[in-house]
Amino acid sequence: MADLMEKIVSLCKRRGFVFPSSEIYGGIGGFWDFGPLGVLMKNNIKRLWWKTMVEEKENIFGLDSTIIHHPKVWQASGHTVSFTDPLRECKSCHKRFRADKIKGDKCPECGGDLTEVKQFNLMFETYVGPARQTANKAYLRPETCQGIFINFGNVVDCLRPKLPFGIAQIGKSFRNEITTGDFIFRDRELEMMELEFFVKPGEDEKWHEYWLKERLKWYQEIGLKGDHLRLFEHPKTSLAHYSKRTVDIEYKFPFGWAELEGIANRTDFDLKNHSKFSGKDLRFQEENGEKFYPFVIEPSVGVERITLALLLEAYCEQMSNKDTRVILSLNPKISPIKIAVFPLLANKPDLVKLARGIYEDLRKNFMVAWDERGNIGKRYFSQDEIGTPWCVTIDFQTLKDKTVTVRDRDTTKQIRLGIDKLQEFFENKLK
Ligand code: GAP
Repeated sequence: MADLMEKIVSLCKRRGFVFPSSEIYGGIGGFWDFGPLGVLMKNNIKRLWWKTMVEEKENIFGLDSTIIHHPKVWQASGHTVSFTDPLRECKSCHKRFRADKIKGDKCPECGGDLTEVKQFNLMFETYVGPARQTANKAYLRPETCQGIFINFGNVVDCLRPKLPFGIAQIGKSFRNEITTGDFIFRDRELEMMELEFFVKPGEDEKWHEYWLKERLKWYQEIGLKGDHLRLFEHPKTSLAHYSKRTVDIEYKFPFGWAELEGIANRTDFDLKNHSKFSGKDLRFQEENGEKFYPFVIEPSVGVERITLALLLEAYCEQMSNKDTRVILSLNPKISPIKIAVFPLLANKPDLVKLARGIYEDLRKNFMVAWDERGNIGKRYFSQDEIGTPWCVTIDFQTLKDKTVTVRDRDTTKQIRLGIDKLQEFFENKLK
């Protein structure tokens, strides 16, 4: 569909999914605020990830570490030296560009001469405590996984797990990207979902394949089409400093195939280096006394990228009586609102009272919206546009036989159902 990105950006702003951060001050590049619907959608994605990656797995445990770590963490991880992008600056207009994203030696904006390539470190710096001196310099984490590696010993001591086992974390990360763009695709503040899966050396390749399959399956389960997903094998020359092999799951965005999730074999790089820099032995001890550094398989993804992919995938338009009907055909588990409840007419107190009761009741278990404005057709359109899978209408027949209509977003078909059957009906649908 032409202009799909523009349509999504506009819908997100208009309906309260995503706002440019600090908009009243002109915005701040690469930062986005998630509005009332956006935060619900993002929470649903995070909940589904957590359920699949932690709650349904016997050997994967959760963690919530801090955003700021001891600065030595980033020396051990290699980030102070290697977490860089190549930068060129225009000598005339002083705009800065990622050297690998531009062609030639002239500024793409004004045609001026460019400086030589410099390596630019993407970590945001800050100071801990009241003195702004080098000794107090710290960083906002650019990935959540280091919090996992530095807690590896704690988790092993507490739980005594057997290999293979994993530690998972969801949290904010910060990257001072040279260029941002494509809406929420590349952000300076993002939320990551990362699993570090520790395995015996020698079993790493097998587990890498396992996680590739698992993660591809998950994307299809939450609503991305198989032919919009593909694997990209990083050539050896472009691997991150810690990686033996990295395979990206790419999504077919309107601006081309691009990385949705990276799945890396980080080897024993991180645990070994943290042992070296901290002086603490982070080797794993088997029951027979053998000690070694486990290898790590890491599926890592940003919540914003999944949100964008799901919105793009779900968006469709239909012509209906000269009006364009916009439908977000989201997986109901991802939809911000599950059910909308309407009284057929807002000026009939009997209908409103009964509808309010049903609304209050459903709210105990589901995210439910109330709407009594305009006519019923407009209310349906309005809910379709934000992906609400079901609309419940209380009409005059409800007063007589205690049944309501339930309308399905994707088929627009309506069925009549007893009020007492609603909870069970929606529970089954959302199972
Ligand atoms: N711990 C591994 C790691 O950080 P990465 O490939 O740099 O690897 C992992 O990032 C994932 O985080 C990416 O696949 C993407 O989903 C997301 N991500 C990375 N940088 C991002 C950015 N600037 N904005 C939004 N998402 C980003």
